[in-house]
Amino acid sequence: MNNDQRFFVFLKERIGLDVTSVGVAIIERAVRQRITAVPGRTVEEYWHCLLQSTQEQQALIEAVIVPETWFFRYPESFATLARLAVQRLTAIRHLRALRILSLPCSTGEEPYSIAMALLDAGVQPHQFKVDGLDVSPLSVERAREARYGRNSFRGADLAFRERYFTADGDGYRLGERVREQVRLQVGNLLDPALLANEAPYDFVFCRNLLIYFDQPTQRLVFEVLKRLTHQDGVLFIGPAEGSLLGRLGLRSIGVPQSFAFSRQGVAEPQPLPTLVPAPLPPRVVPPVAPAPARPWPFMASVTPMASPQVAPTKVAPAKDSDAATLLADIATLANAGKSAEARAACERYLSNHPPKAQVFYWLGLLSDMAGNALQAQGFYRKALYLEPQHAEALVHLAALLASQGDAAGARRLQERAARSGRAADSEHPR
Ligand SMILES: C[S@@+](CC[C@H](N)C(=O)[O-])C[C@H]1O[C@@H](n2cnc3c(N)ncnc32)[C@H](O)[C@@H]1O
Repeated sequence: MNNDQRFFVFLKERIGLDVTSVGVAIIERAVRQRITAVPGRTVEEYWHCLLQSTQEQQALIEAVIVPETWFFRYPESFATLARLAVQRLTAIRHLRALRILSLPCSTGEEPYSIAMALLDAGVQPHQFKVDGLDVSPLSVERAREARYGRNSFRGADLAFRERYFTADGDGYRLGERVREQVRLQVGNLLDPALLANEAPYDFVFCRNLLIYFDQPTQRLVFEVLKRLTHQDGVLFIGPAEGSLLGRLGLRSIGVPQSFAFSRQGVAEPQPLPTLVPAPLPPRVVPPVAPAPARPWPFMASVTPMASPQVAPTKVAPAKDSDAATLLADIATLANAGKSAEARAACERYLSNHPPKAQVFYWLGLLSDMAGNALQAQGFYRKALYLEPQHAEALVHLAALLASQGDAAGARRLQERAARSGRAADSEHPR
């Protein structure tokens, strides 16, 4: 079934998934998984089954989507939302409830984080409602169950878990107070009738989906997002998606790390990070041994989930001799949205230890999040020089190249990522 375009076209038409953005290997793996679900089935038999069965269409979509998400992902965006929501309530003189959309909501961590952030900010339950939509019925079902494992809790500050969850076996169950604020439903961003009868939303979260679309689809979806966002509303996107919105005419509201864009197109550019990176150390040598495999995809490695014993906010500036501790601190800081501190810790690491791919990858990610694509590219390339199969660096550099129209370059990197085996194997971490 190598390079069977029919499946690529099908997925592109149904959910917008662009083979150039995610790579051939990931789609082929999902198709193969579905074909072999019935022993002895041929590609042709599967293709006909796919055309005839909506159930099989949904199964293929489930096999190919990336449901990766966690609570308070990019924490600054939730803090910004809370501030803006309080202002907006005053602006509309508390005459109606705020309307907030999380699309795609995946397994619910994002819309529930929105609700917790607003409740924490003192917004009363009757003053807002969150709609969460995703194309995956399985993910929406999980969101409705609202029971989460430790993968969903990755930030440095987990105090919210004490406030809003109760322990339930090896997981945590979200309390009614938050759940009641969120309406969940299945919905496809490409569906022309999507939320057609709904009033526009004051705040729209559409994060980590646009990167999987090609440029014409991004433009189409952007029109949908504009329709869904109130004239005075704000659109929140993912860190790698800022350059897309910039190109499409939206303007950042100017709050670093919030990735928030004004619907009105206020012409205020997103500021660069407060700390300008020092020149990189000249010594760049290939590693002696590859680093252990990390989860994929986006930002998985900047999370402290695999090292819960690490004290999150305590960075010991004088004790750089402990490389492992410093690496864990960098991850914690980056994940907590403390970009300047994370960048400084990266630089401390590089001046006191041999160059490390993971550190260059973090620098790339921090530059990427700050909107400095050129600098990000340089850092990702350094990571790949040190560790040619560094999965996250490959994926992020591919996304950057794709967003700049270099489809061939992006494809080459994706193929490398797929060949490394790590990307494909950890595609569905749940
Ligand atoms: C990486 S998750 C992002 C979740 C969350 N917004 C976040 O940033 O943490 C991507 C989600 O997009 C959903 N998705 C993919 N194509 C979609 C489409 N056409 N319409 C709606 N959701 C879609 C997938 O099911 C998946 O749950």
